[in-house]
Amino acid sequence: MELKDKRWYPSYHVAAPAGWINDPNGLCYFDGRYHVFFQYHPHSVEWGPMHWGHVSSSDLVTWRHEPIALAPSIEEDRDGCWSGSCVVGDDGRLYAFYTGHCWRTDPNDPNSRRQVQCLAVSDDGIHFQKHGSVLENPQCPTHFRDPKVWREGETWCMVVGQQSPERRGQVALYTSDDLLHWNQAGIVYEHPDANVYMLECPDLFELDGKWVLCFSAMGMRPSGYMGRNQHNAGYLVGSWKLGEPFVPQTEFAPCDAGHNYYAPQSFEHEGRRIQFGWMSSFHMGAAEQEDGWCGQLTLPRKLSLRDDGVMLSMPVPECAMLWEHAQAQDSSEVTANEERVIADDLACGCLELTFDLAASSAERFGVKLHGTTDGNYLFVGYDAQTGCVVVDRQGCLRGHRGYRAAHVYGDSLRLQIWLDRGSIEVFVNDGEVAFSEMSYPGDGPRSITLTSEQGITKVEKLTLSK
Ligand code: FRU
Repeated sequence: MELKDKRWYPSYHVAAPAGWINDPNGLCYFDGRYHVFFQYHPHSVEWGPMHWGHVSSSDLVTWRHEPIALAPSIEEDRDGCWSGSCVVGDDGRLYAFYTGHCWRTDPNDPNSRRQVQCLAVSDDGIHFQKHGSVLENPQCPTHFRDPKVWREGETWCMVVGQQSPERRGQVALYTSDDLLHWNQAGIVYEHPDANVYMLECPDLFELDGKWVLCFSAMGMRPSGYMGRNQHNAGYLVGSWKLGEPFVPQTEFAPCDAGHNYYAPQSFEHEGRRIQFGWMSSFHMGAAEQEDGWCGQLTLPRKLSLRDDGVMLSMPVPECAMLWEHAQAQDSSEVTANEERVIADDLACGCLELTFDLAASSAERFGVKLHGTTDGNYLFVGYDAQTGCVVVDRQGCLRGHRGYRAAHVYGDSLRLQIWLDRGSIEVFVNDGEVAFSEMSYPGDGPRSITLTSEQGITKVEKLTLSK
């Protein structure tokens, strides 16, 4: 496959050279480089028989394309090498655990699919040797996937998402001494909502003294501002000990409140917990497919836990290396119904804004991003009537419409907005909320405009980096 047009192709987010990608896989630091693998269909802009694509980096900012790491080739993974994770073994080699997927194991039964956990090992982090299946669960043959492996003291642990025989979404735990032989170690978590029929991509890790369980829940129904995507990735904070179930102490909260986010995975390196997500289009189709590609990953986000149980996620500081200069403006007032252009043409950059909510009277204010002469823009701002930060695609001429909103509190509001050629990531108040959005501007210059509707807006600080 080849790219036909680069108008929306990311200039700094991880994407495949062409073709379809979904989940981040196998995140690790190995042999002096960061490695990011991803679900990849190199022959089409649609999901299909999954491979593991691969990029690596020395700094989490500049990515080098590597050869495809895994492709369907053995009986266990004949219809796809699905999601999974990597760890560095005691022998210094890289162990990749992934789900081997087969659509139909019994020619007479259309529902007879099979998912097993497979292992492939690499000496150089680039070329992998397959060892076939290391874990099966005959009780849950159809939904049993996405092994996430880590070491807990002397014990290797693996969480796997599964559907119980009663059709409930569960996270199962397995343990091992040698990464080759795995033993059942109970159910870590079963989702309390009976509509949730599968928990994809589970991730269980310690963060700032607590345990966090992330998963991508299939079947959750929308309720208010929550659960608005077709499937929803989020987290619980609680306590956990090896041999015991996870005990949540918070409600399920989304990892990202945007339209385009799913299947996050994290890894730890030098004391930092870093998470990537898939800026998903899921089943809805995406405008970039006509250009020969589909899907990209979010920026690497450093996770931390606030005392009230909110998981903060912010781009790792290395991402600032993307920009050559920053232009800062001091406080100003946007007058009622003013439209103030702050950049004539900015396809890629980072915009940081601090607003004084107490001193602002506007009903709604914010920025129109990726504004093009055909009238296209994506709005990111604050709605004083609901007390929410809003990302609104009403002005988006290509792709999907609709808006997303999340409550914020306090007298001041900080937005950090990362613009790439075909996407926007928004971080609110140091990462208490994030929004990932695909965005498809028209031809020509791409402007940024500050707006203030029906009242004034007090901008305390504005910095534009490019
Ligand atoms: C999540 C997911 C995983 C699976 C992979 C297949 O998006 O459905 O559960 O392993 O994608 O591509």
